Amino acid sequence: MEYSGGDSLTSADVLPVRAKKPRLDFTLTSISMNISIIGAGNMGSAIARGLAQKAEAAGYSLTVSNPTAAKLTALQADCPHLKVTADNRIAAQNADLVILAVKPWKIQEVLVEIQPELDWHRQSIASLAAGISLEQLGTWLTLSYTNTLPPLYRVIPNTAAAVQQSMTFISSAHSTPEQDTRVLTVFRALGEAVLVEENKLAACTALASCGIAYVLRFIRAAMAGGVELGLSTGEARDYMLQTLQGTIDLLRTSGHHPEEEIDRVTTPGGLTIRGLNTMEAYGFSHSVIQGLKASVR
Ligand SMILES: NC(=O)c1ccc[n+]([C@@H]2O[C@H](COP(=O)([O-])OP(=O)(O)OC[C@H]3O[C@@H](n4cnc5c(N)ncnc54)[C@H](OP(=O)(O)O)[C@@H]3O)[C@@H](O)[C@H]2O)c1
Repeated sequence: MEYSGGDSLTSADVLPVRAKKPRLDFTLTSISMNISIIGAGNMGSAIARGLAQKAEAAGYSLTVSNPTAAKLTALQADCPHLKVTADNRIAAQNADLVILAVKPWKIQEVLVEIQPELDWHRQSIASLAAGISLEQLGTWLTLSYTNTLPPLYRVIPNTAAAVQQSMTFISSAHSTPEQDTRVLTVFRALGEAVLVEENKLAACTALASCGIAYVLRFIRAAMAGGVELGLSTGEARDYMLQTLQGTIDLLRTSGHHPEEEIDRVTTPGGLTIRGLNTMEAYGFSHSVIQGLKASVR
């Protein structure tokens, strides 16, 4: 496939991608698939990089389209096996799965543009757009094309897709369980992925997509506190990251509710409970809950 954006980018061969080992409920198999990502912004690039880094095994062919050549050049520099193009229709033509990674207000325009290239008997469409329902996607497709619909997906990953640690939520319509499994398999190459009912997507987005920013803000606050207590920024960052990693492993290994682990470190009359109570007095839990609720409004 030729790059048609007007500079010297060249096409590349199929990038093999290894499917992720299953960690949740679904059986994971290696499948060969052409995947096109339309939009090479934060999320499209993160997904492209994540899939590309998985390399080998599954035999996915990856194509990315974007109007700005510089983004494609940067992507291809990191992932030389990616095919890139400025033409969305070329990207859509041979894809088994078309991933729409443009801003929500661009989705309809892109759908209208690529529809003539689509074959709904063999292609599925996945939209990353926050807040655009499966019903809305279907309406745009049927209004300007036919009365039938392809398998449609709403996919909410987070930016940790770039390091294969995304928490991805997928809702589907007009699809079979086999088609759902294929799409899950793709996104499990980028971390954890689960199918959820569409009415839970807003809560899932708040927790896991916005959630990355909330966790980062906590880390930043903890680092600022550490520096005030005399640590260097680098020391505070390293120590917090290892503390977070340890906390995650403790919870994953034990299956405990966080409060059980908190009980283990809060000696009566001790320092930790003083710190926790002071944080709560300043609204720690309340702030987190209110922030999550604000991000679904
Ligand atoms: N960021 C997140 O954490 C996150 C999480 C879940 C879901 N999402 C969803 O993911 C989607 C993308 O978000 P983002 O943060 O990646 O946005 P972004 O960084 O602005 O990326 C959007 C990309 O789309 C490209 N684009 C614009 N018009 C296009 C067109 N007609 N055809 C092809 N590409 C086009 C833009 O290209 P140029 O800039 O080069 O013009 C840009 O590279 C959104 O719908 C968002 O709701 C994001």
